[in-house]
Amino acid sequence: MLIDRKARLVEVESWGDYFLFTIDSPEIARQAQPGQFLMIKVSETTQPLLRRPISLHNVEHTRLQIFFQVAGQGTRLLSSKRPGQSLDIFGPLGRGFSLSSELRNREVFCVGGGRGLAPLHYLAGKLKAAGARPIIFYGGRSETDLPLKGRLKASGLEVLVSTDDGSCGFRGLVTSLVEEKLKQRKPAFLYACGPDPMLEKLADICRREKLAGEFSLESIMGCGFGACWGCVKKIRRDGQEKYLKVCQDGPVFPIEEIVWPENEHG
Ligand SMILES: Cc1cc2nc3c(=O)[nH]c(=O)nc-3n(C[C@H](O)[C@H](O)[C@H](O)COP(=O)(O)OP(=O)(O)OC[C@H]3O[C@@H](n4cnc5c(N)ncnc54)[C@H](O)[C@@H]3O)c2cc1C
Ligand code: FES
Repeated sequence: MLIDRKARLVEVESWGDYFLFTIDSPEIARQAQPGQFLMIKVSETTQPLLRRPISLHNVEHTRLQIFFQVAGQGTRLLSSKRPGQSLDIFGPLGRGFSLSSELRNREVFCVGGGRGLAPLHYLAGKLKAAGARPIIFYGGRSETDLPLKGRLKASGLEVLVSTDDGSCGFRGLVTSLVEEKLKQRKPAFLYACGPDPMLEKLADICRREKLAGEFSLESIMGCGFGACWGCVKKIRRDGQEKYLKVCQDGPVFPIEEIVWPENEHG
C-alpha cells in the first residue's frame, strides 16, 4: 500500500452527479489490480475527517481512473476538485477480483448497477487481455444513470444495458436482463458490483443456475487498511460464519461466502 499525497488530477468529466477522474499516480498504477480501491482525502480540513473509499475504474500506464456518484458531503467535495490540483490518495487497497486462467476462451458476465459499474471496466479489460469474453451488463434507473455506456462500447467491450423506466436498452432490472440472457447462454463465471438488493438477487440466480462468481461489496469504512474493524460483514468460510473486514479480506468475496441478513440464522 502506497500513499501518494501529490497525485495530479489530470482530467475531470461529469454527467449530472456522476464523475470520471483521471489521475496521474505512477506507483499506485504499477501495483494496482482490478477490484482494488483507493482511500481518498476529500477535504483540507477535518470536515469530513475520514477518507472515502473509491474503486479503481481503470488503469493505463501511469494513470488511474475513478468513477463515482455524489452520495453526500465527501463525494460532493471530491467532485469539486479541478484538473491540475493534487489529490491525497492511498492504495491500491484490498483483495480484488480473481482472474482464473480457466476463463480463457469462455464467456464471463460482469454485472454493474449504477455506480457499481465502477470496478468493471478495469476487470473486463484484463479479462479480455487474458483471452476471456467478458460481457458487461450495465443497469440503471434511467438512461442518465448509464453515462459510460458509449465509452465502454468504444473501447471494444460488449455491453448490454437496462433501465428501470425503459429509456434505454432492456426495460427492467439488470438482474432480469441477466436472467433473460441466461436462457440463451451460460457463462463460465459472473462478477458483480452494485447495491445489496441487486447482489442478493444475483446470488439467488447464481445458486439456481449453479454459476460461480464473485461480488465486490461496499461497507462504511473508517481506515481502509484493517485497523478499525468498522467495515466488517458476515462471511461463511471454512464451515464457519465470521466477521471479515471488507477493506482487507475483500472488497471482493466469492458469492457463496456472503451471508445476507435474512439468511443469518438459516
Ligand atoms: C470498497 C469500496 C469501493 C467503492 N467504490 C465506489 C466507486 O467506485 N464509486 C462510487 O461512486 N462509490 C464507491 N463507493 C461508495 C462510496 O465510498 C460512498 O458513496 C462514499 O464514501 C459516500 O461518502 P459521502 O461523504 O459522499 O456520503 P455520506 O454523507 O458519508 O453518506 C451518504 C449516503 O451514502 C451511504 N454510504 C456512505 N458510505 C458508504 C459506503 N462505503 N457504502 C455504502 N453506502 C455508503 C450513507 O449511509 C448515506 O446514506 C465505494 C465503497 C467501498 C466500500
Ligand atoms: S475500514 Fe478499518 S478495518 Fe476496514
